[in-house]
Amino acid sequence: QELQMNLEQIEKGGYDHFMLKEIYEQPAVIKDTYRGRLHANEGLIKMAGIEDNLQKFLNANRILIVACGTSWHAGLVAEYIFEEFARIPVEVEYASEFRYRNPIIHENDVVIAISQSGETADTLAAIKLAKEHGAFVFGVCNVVGSSISRETHAGAYTHAGPEIGVASTKAFTTQITVLTLIALRLAQAKGTLTNSDFHRYLQELELIPEKVQQALETNDVAKDIAAIYKDAPNCLYLGRGYNFPVALEGALKLKEISYIHAEGYPAAEMKHGPIALIDEQMPVVVIAQKQEHYDKIVSNIQEIKSRSGKIIAVVTEGDTQVRALADHVIEIPKTVDALSPLLTTIPLQLLSYHIAVMRECNVDQPRNLAKSVTVE
Ligand code: G6P
Repeated sequence: QELQMNLEQIEKGGYDHFMLKEIYEQPAVIKDTYRGRLHANEGLIKMAGIEDNLQKFLNANRILIVACGTSWHAGLVAEYIFEEFARIPVEVEYASEFRYRNPIIHENDVVIAISQSGETADTLAAIKLAKEHGAFVFGVCNVVGSSISRETHAGAYTHAGPEIGVASTKAFTTQITVLTLIALRLAQAKGTLTNSDFHRYLQELELIPEKVQQALETNDVAKDIAAIYKDAPNCLYLGRGYNFPVALEGALKLKEISYIHAEGYPAAEMKHGPIALIDEQMPVVVIAQKQEHYDKIVSNIQEIKSRSGKIIAVVTEGDTQVRALADHVIEIPKTVDALSPLLTTIPLQLLSYHIAVMRECNVDQPRNLAKSVTVE
């Protein structure tokens, strides 16, 4: 028993929980994930699984992404990135819905299955169905040799290392990293990005680990905010564009480990329902980066403020406009819009983590949840 405890302490590498350790590993594992693949100076992306099947991707009428949970959120981020960079239509589906609804799948469809564990039963079943219909199936898995990595035609691994905390953190950011690399490679092959944009994205991606490191410095601020809102019964997360899926993921993290009811919404949808929930009791986490549609996010924040909602804003460093309106701000470094989810997600992970710790929840093994769901 005691030996077991000590072993676990060692495995946690000085952190109180696996989740925190894994949050802090992100700069390193994002780098591990693009190492050997991203060659920013030469303007090259080398991924064997993509090169070997490039024509399939280029001929694809559309890309279908299937996944569950946090991996599904990474798929949503990828949808925005693929469509923007490579101009290929993308649909993202919950694997569980896809497999049971007689979906339309063509031979020219490329299916991308995203799974940290590579063992999720619904995702595995969706892959089998897609294969039966003749689609080419590409896997983005973390666990080497997992069922999904074996069942897919080709794939690219994330190099997040073992993820022990049930709430997924580093798997999410490394999945986005792999999917961004793929989108960039396809954009290059299709000529859908200008040369200068393409090179800029490569350089920005290379800088992401450093910026994630800076984003981790929001830990103390996140902890202070956690102390204020730890007893809130509800919490709303809002984001737009690339950061809409981050709002969903932020809400999922809070639900999973702190058992606080949370919902993520595209900010502009607030007026179609969630705004009715806003009163002085309601914390609203708004991802308000200085990027496209910034003015829209500012007006969303004003709408919350005029209804006395409490605003926790994740802003770009140097921001003044949102700072003037928000109750709390968390500043993160600037990057290009498409890569911002890799940074905005960091303080949301930390916020959930601290709230869960303060509520004395079992952070690494939340009730009723399993790390990988191998049943239907
Ligand atoms: C479970 C886990 C989640 C995970 C989801 C999909 O619900 O608790 O953290 O996102 O399964 O898992 P996968 O291994 O397929 O990414």
